Amino acid sequence: MVKSLKIVVTGASGFIAKNLRKYLSEKDIELISISRNDFKNFKNEIKIISKNYNDKNILKKIQNSDALIHLVGIGKQSVNSDYDVINTDLTKHVVNLSKKARIKKIIFLSGLGVSPNTSLGYFISKYNAEKQITDSGLEFTIFRPSYIVGKDDLFSKNLKNQIKSGEIIIPGSGTYSIQPIHVSDVVKVIFESVSQLRFNNKIIDLVGSDNITFEKYVKLFSKGTKTKIRKIKLEDAYHEAIRNSKSNFGIDDLNILIGNFKGNHKKLSKLSKIKFQSVLELFQSRRFP
Ligand SMILES: NC(=O)c1ccc[n+]([C@@H]2O[C@H](COP(=O)([O-])OP(=O)(O)OC[C@H]3O[C@@H](n4cnc5c(N)ncnc54)[C@H](OP(=O)(O)O)[C@@H]3O)[C@@H](O)[C@H]2O)c1
Repeated sequence: MVKSLKIVVTGASGFIAKNLRKYLSEKDIELISISRNDFKNFKNEIKIISKNYNDKNILKKIQNSDALIHLVGIGKQSVNSDYDVINTDLTKHVVNLSKKARIKKIIFLSGLGVSPNTSLGYFISKYNAEKQITDSGLEFTIFRPSYIVGKDDLFSKNLKNQIKSGEIIIPGSGTYSIQPIHVSDVVKVIFESVSQLRFNNKIIDLVGSDNITFEKYVKLFSKGTKTKIRKIKLEDAYHEAIRNSKSNFGIDDLNILIGNFKGNHKKLSKLSKIKFQSVLELFQSRRFP
C-alpha cells in the first residue's frame, strides 16, 4: 500500500489555506492545520489552535510530516503586527520547528516582485523570510505569486465592495498590469510541489497566463453591473492610504500595483505540466467573479 502523505498547513483560516486544505482533504492527505482561532476541520484533518506557534504540543503533532506549507503572512502593517514580526520572524520560527520535527520539505508563498534589490519594506520582509528557508538545509519550494483570485479573495472582495457602492476607483493611469491566477490552479501547483522532486529547491513565479492592465481587469470584473469607473490621482490614492487604515488600497497594495511586476508563466506551466485556466476566459464564460 502507498503511504499517504502527511502535510502541515499554517495560517489555516486564510483564503489560500482554506482552498488548499479542502483540496488536500479530498485527496485523502493526512492534514495537520494550525490557526490562531478555532476552525471547522475537514476529513483526515487534525487541528491545532495556537496564537503564536509556540505551544509545546505543536512539535509532537507535526513530527515526521512530509511537508509544511507556510501560509501565514500579512500585506498591511499595524502597531500590533508588523512585517518583520509576522512575515520574517514567524517564518524563522516555523523553519526551526520544521527542522526539530524532522519535516522534509517546506513550501512558502512569498510575493511577485521580491528580489535582493528591493527597497520596499513588505518585499524585504518576504525576502528575509525566503532566506530563512533557502539557508535552512530543508528541501523547499518558494512561490512568488501575483494576484491569486477565487471566491472570497481580498482583492476581489475589495472590488465587489466598490461595485456595491456604485463606483470603482482606479489609482493613477490604470495602465500597470497584473497576472491573476485562479486559486483552484494554485492549490494544484502547491500539491505538485510537495509530491514532485522537480520542484525541489526552486523559487518560482506563481502567475497566470494573462497579463492584463488593471483598467481592463476592472472593466471585465464589473461587466454587466452599472458600476462607474473613476480614475483618481496617485497622490490622492496615497493620501487616502496613508491617512485611512480602511481605505480601498493600502500603501503596499498601491506599491505592488504600481510596481508593475512581471512573472514567468511559461516556466511555471512547463514545470508543473498543469493546464491553467485563463482568468480572462473565466470572465468571458461568467464562471468568475
Ligand atoms: N492572495 C494573494 O493574492 C497572495 C499574493 C502574494 C502572496 N500571498 C501570500 O500567500 C500567503 C497566504 O495568503 P492569503 O491570501 O491566504 O492571506 P490571508 O487570507 O490573509 O491568510 C493569511 C493567514 O496568516 C495568518 N496570520 C495573519 N496574521 C497573523 C499573525 N499576526 N500571527 C499569526 N498568523 C497570522 C492568519 O491565519 P489564521 O487566521 O489561521 O491564524 C491568516 O488567515 C501569505 O503569506 C501572503 O502574503 C498571497
